[in-house]
Amino acid sequence: MPAELTVIVLAAGGGTRMKSKTVKVLHEVGGRSMVGHVLAAVGELEPQRIVAVVGHQREQVAPHIQSLAPDAVLAVQETQEGTGHAVRIAVEAAGVTTGTVLVATGDTPLLRGASLRAFVAEHEAAQRAVSILSGEVPDPHGYGRIVRDEQGEVVAIVEEKDATPEQRELREISSGILAFDGDFLAGALPRISNDNAKGEYYLTDAVQLAQDDGLTVGAYPIEDVTETEGANDRAQLAELGRILNARIVTQWMRDGVTVMDPATTWIDADVVLEQDVTVLPGTQLLGATVVAEDAVVGPDTTLKDCEIGSGARVVRTHGELAVVGAGADVGPFSYLRPGTRLGAGGKIGAFVETKNAVIGEGSKVPHLSYVGDAQIGRGSNIGAGTIFANYDGIAKHRTTVGDGARTGSNNTFIAPVSIGDGAMTGGGTVVREDVPAGALAVSAGAQRNLEGHAARRAASRAETDGERHADPGVGQPAPGGTQSR
Ligand code: UD1
Ligand code: CA
Repeated sequence: MPAELTVIVLAAGGGTRMKSKTVKVLHEVGGRSMVGHVLAAVGELEPQRIVAVVGHQREQVAPHIQSLAPDAVLAVQETQEGTGHAVRIAVEAAGVTTGTVLVATGDTPLLRGASLRAFVAEHEAAQRAVSILSGEVPDPHGYGRIVRDEQGEVVAIVEEKDATPEQRELREISSGILAFDGDFLAGALPRISNDNAKGEYYLTDAVQLAQDDGLTVGAYPIEDVTETEGANDRAQLAELGRILNARIVTQWMRDGVTVMDPATTWIDADVVLEQDVTVLPGTQLLGATVVAEDAVVGPDTTLKDCEIGSGARVVRTHGELAVVGAGADVGPFSYLRPGTRLGAGGKIGAFVETKNAVIGEGSKVPHLSYVGDAQIGRGSNIGAGTIFANYDGIAKHRTTVGDGARTGSNNTFIAPVSIGDGAMTGGGTVVREDVPAGALAVSAGAQRNLEGHAARRAASRAETDGERHADPGVGQPAPGGTQSR
């Protein structure tokens, strides 16, 4: 029977090296805040209690943590007097005196739940007062060093600023993640002093106190030390993001997704991909995007919070909060804005922008169109260059198009307006009034052909040119035409 588990997440620091309006733990990698990653990892342990210590910008940090871990207890640390001080406040806020207490920091986005679980299990099996999640690093600068005696037993953690030159050579470091026996911790915290180089209450001094009490202390080396790396500045944040992405992309490939170019593919932590999805180069799948079986996404596509149906193809597209049905076709160069829902087997083609647009099964908007605030039925085809004019300068209005409608090229639908089932419109139609089912709407006046116009024009020009003895070879454009120079 595992002991009752309390997890304390330290998130009170400001993170000055980020040089940011946003506090460090709220900076994002892989589509989640750093503290969001930590909360996800500790959540895998199903602890009885999570206590988050907040301080800097707590008006943003506290609600963020509450949205991700609604049951978490928030402990406020008004002034940051060290990790020992922070944990004391957490223990007081939660009233913890028994079980196992795991202390994690809010800025280690690569930490895995499985590693924490193994660490806690080992700590409990060894019945230690304190366990340190440790690691060997090539450059130990800035870390607390683990000091061992001749028998190899851990005796203390010495912080960088307090270390002797020999201790600074030690490459075994404390990750800052510690597990405690709750009874011992509650008794030790008030005994920690701030008599050190930084004038802070070091949580790591608990190791020495346990030693003094004749209790067991030990270090558990983590398999992959990068998991405990924190990001202190934006360069480190980007590096952790790259590592996290490589991990996520590799995992999806192992789960049956084809990724042609992992180096240019970015997949957020919360994205879900089904088997036999293909992701082509230069693609970002962000937020809560879900891509179903056999769909092909990319190249050069960004999808945020989108749902792509099985077997759909989405090529060179930018999409947000859009749903693409099974077997549908999108792109190249499509812009799917929030509220777009394309039915199964439908099409949104090149240079088409859609917003709040429900496009039914098998319906197509193939070329150069804007579809805003619209409802299109099944099996309809919208002609090239159609604008759903949804805004009259004051309010937005909706357009509805029925099933099996065929609208001509270069139409404008002035909302609110509706086009009935099976209706048609001529090229260049401006639809201002509803088109009944089965009707053909045309809005242009009857075409007039002025016979003999070209010859008359040539004759009149010859006359003027003769008067001005100008170069007769250069033509003038026809009315309404274009001229290239
Ligand atoms: C700490 C450890 C060090 C370890 C290193 C790993 C101590 C004394 N030192 O050093 O052994 O190698 O982490 O990165 O614990 N925090 C608070 N309130 C405070 C102080 C800190 O919430 O009053 C939070 C910070 O926001 C941060 C974490 O605790 O998330 C660690 O604090 P930091 O000051 O960065 O400690 P380090 O000097 O890195
Ligand atoms: Ca740190």
